[in-house]
Amino acid sequence: MLKKKGKYIVAVVGATGAVGNEMIKTLEMRNFPVEQLRLFASERSEGKVLEFGDTEIKVEAINENSFKGIDIALFSAGAERSKIWAPVAAKSGCVVVDNSSQWRMDPEIPLVVPEVNPHDLKWHKGIIANPNCSTIQMVVVLKPIHDAAKIKRVVVTTFQAVSGTGKRAVAELRQQVAALSNGQPPSWEVYPHQIAFNCLPHIDTFLDNGYTKEEMKMVNETRKILEDASIGVTATTVRVPVFFGHSEAVNVETRRACPADEVRALLAAAPGIKVVDDPAANRYPLAIDAAGQDLTLVGRIRQDESVPNGINMWIAADNIRKGAATNAVQIAQILGEKYL
Ligand SMILES: NC(=O)c1ccc[n+]([C@@H]2O[C@H](COP(=O)([O-])OP(=O)(O)OC[C@H]3O[C@@H](n4cnc5c(N)ncnc54)[C@H](OP(=O)(O)O)[C@@H]3O)[C@@H](O)[C@H]2O)c1
Repeated sequence: MLKKKGKYIVAVVGATGAVGNEMIKTLEMRNFPVEQLRLFASERSEGKVLEFGDTEIKVEAINENSFKGIDIALFSAGAERSKIWAPVAAKSGCVVVDNSSQWRMDPEIPLVVPEVNPHDLKWHKGIIANPNCSTIQMVVVLKPIHDAAKIKRVVVTTFQAVSGTGKRAVAELRQQVAALSNGQPPSWEVYPHQIAFNCLPHIDTFLDNGYTKEEMKMVNETRKILEDASIGVTATTVRVPVFFGHSEAVNVETRRACPADEVRALLAAAPGIKVVDDPAANRYPLAIDAAGQDLTLVGRIRQDESVPNGINMWIAADNIRKGAATNAVQIAQILGEKYL
């Protein structure tokens, strides 16, 4: 295990990607104590130069010896790479914060959202999982409600930005909007259909139960993070033609009564949340307001009049920041301060 230090040698794996790029910026923005930053990506990017503050850093390809001497590695290069390289990194004595889905449901690996279950960092054995972006923003809001009134069931529908699929998807939406605006036929490779001016009820692959993997990630990760397997969760995840910021319609049923005003007050006092809830003034969470900042926005908080203890909400957050890079750097900060 690592020792607490004043400054750390940090690696970003997947540094050239949408999340990796944001991780580099977030380390700088949050003044993470970096002694040296090492950047890794595929062989395609070897030698490419990226900036960290005033420093220019060359991107490296990964090999067996890459992680020697590194204290903390933030991984965002996909599940296959995490499967291979996270254990190699952990064996080299480095603590891995992994953004992929590879280790999230492993009972030996903590799945952490700092506002919700930072205590789970205590029992890490070298790898810590960062949850799915849609799960993170939902559990930040569910946690205070669960603590106050015990959640019985959650029904969520997501409206997820294309940046959640990575940099190629952002380019695909941009190219389709340009083509269609100029009367040209659009083309696509990343998604199975046109995404511009469309909604796709399909994120990740379909499973035998009819749900997508993304939907089941929301079900299983929510229960693990809130440490309550009794919570019923059902999800429909939808890709929408938004560049940055995931939105979610969330219906919550609690065991004890928790009226909308009480929910609003609980959320206003909770960490990482901004209540934006003034419908009369047209104020509610918007993806474009969520993008580029770290808070989870929640609004449209109202009673579900069809059940005794039901609440409806609309939640928006930046999927690349709180949904990925910010959450990972927050974990690294807590590790550095308390649990290395
Ligand atoms: N985007 C989100 O909102 C979000 C949120 C939460 C979690 N995540 C997770 O974060 C990971 C990255 O997502 P992203 O959106 O940043 O994807 P992305 O933009 O496509 O970036 C992928 C990164 O992985 C690198 N990579 C690919 N193959 C590699 C290999 N063989 N060896 C080393 N590096 C390799 C790429 O390097 P090259 O540039 O050299 O190809 C690039 O740096 C995924 O696991 C994703 O599920 C994403």
